[in-house]
Amino acid sequence: MYVTWVLGFPTGKETGDFLTIDLGGTNLRVCWISLRGNENEIGIKQNSYKMSPKIKTGEASELWSFVAESLKTFIEEQSLKGTKEKPLHLGFTFSYPAIQEYIDQGVLQTWTKGFDIKGIEGKDVATQLRTAMSSLDLPVKLVAVVNDTTGAMIASSYHDSQTIIGAIFGTGCNAAYMDKISNIRKIRSSDEIKKLDPETPMAINCEYGAFDNARKVLPVTPYDDQIDAQSPRPGEQAFEKLSAGLYLGEIFRLIILDMHARHLIFTGQGIDKLREPYSIDTSFLSNIEDDDTPDLSTSAAEFQSTFGVSMTQPERQFSRALAKIIAIRGARLCATGIAAICRHQNISSGHVAADGSVVNKHPKFKKRWGRALGEILDWSQSEREERDESGEGDESQMGPIVLTSAEDGSGVGAAVIAAMTLERLQRGEKAGVKGTGE
Ligand code: BGC
Repeated sequence: MYVTWVLGFPTGKETGDFLTIDLGGTNLRVCWISLRGNENEIGIKQNSYKMSPKIKTGEASELWSFVAESLKTFIEEQSLKGTKEKPLHLGFTFSYPAIQEYIDQGVLQTWTKGFDIKGIEGKDVATQLRTAMSSLDLPVKLVAVVNDTTGAMIASSYHDSQTIIGAIFGTGCNAAYMDKISNIRKIRSSDEIKKLDPETPMAINCEYGAFDNARKVLPVTPYDDQIDAQSPRPGEQAFEKLSAGLYLGEIFRLIILDMHARHLIFTGQGIDKLREPYSIDTSFLSNIEDDDTPDLSTSAAEFQSTFGVSMTQPERQFSRALAKIIAIRGARLCATGIAAICRHQNISSGHVAADGSVVNKHPKFKKRWGRALGEILDWSQSEREERDESGEGDESQMGPIVLTSAEDGSGVGAAVIAAMTLERLQRGEKAGVKGTGE
């Protein structure tokens, strides 16, 4: 549970022009966001810069010079004008667990989602980025470090006042919500907190992908143990490794390999292509599950073309059942995380603004998530049906807490958070902000 120094929801009237960067997966996304104080009039210019896979496991200096060089290219491409006196303001979406004593710093606790860059854990990512930007003389001022979940919540609440939670169900999994600072025991005695009214709301980044790292609560399989042991950070992100997009296909692959080693499937066939770690992604799994041909020939064709194996009828059925059970477990765990926040906060209604490859690309995820949430929160069938916002029996839209598609968290969200921070500074409210924004 990490404090973010995002103090409350936006009014929707925030204005200004902001650079944003999102360092998350295979690309670095850079945006120029113009907020005009009206949700319908947000200007967005953007570009993505391909990050070489080597960077993910390389040295800090390579990462930061790639980020600073990409920013420089973007500033030139868009002819953005900033000076030392009037720098361009930057919101930096950094979607890894980072302790923030201030909104404009973040000390990385551990890499997640397969990243393993040396020299950053235990360090402030904002300082490292600032150094790289100043070595290129970029006229840029970093105003806020933002988690993707907080970005999703804030961007969505800019449009939708019923937003209660921002969630990511993608390569990783996590959520953020709002609490009043008097409830945040961890930092109650900090000097920065004492400057604030105890009723002030603050966004909390749960980092619940790390739930049960002690492995005392959740039942796990030998395949889960294998995923953990072979990951760059064994023992970390226990919950995420059972439920997030990066791992679902890998769990499937490990089970298939085991069944083959026990001579139960694909007997007599070479399965070398299936031995490549992380060669199966979530969309492969959902395609197998969604195969509605009577003899499951679509899955069979996909297996043949991707992995060079041919499948018997029972093997096709087994693969489909396996893809299904892995996806169901993942979706239901994703619902438990949200249910836990709702119970903890006594939240009985509202919108969970979600983003990420699993919720966006796995067609059955939402329904399973919605059903599990209702079961955990004990909604009656009539309570669900009465409030079916979709009118179509879509279980993620039934009941008092529904799933919505998050607005652009790492672009608009990071910009709105930067705008809120600058507004606070202008009012002389410096709590939780280290720099001056100038
Ligand atoms: C990270 C979180 C992030 C989530 C979703 C996790 O691995 O630790 O900070 O919000 O992935 O991207």
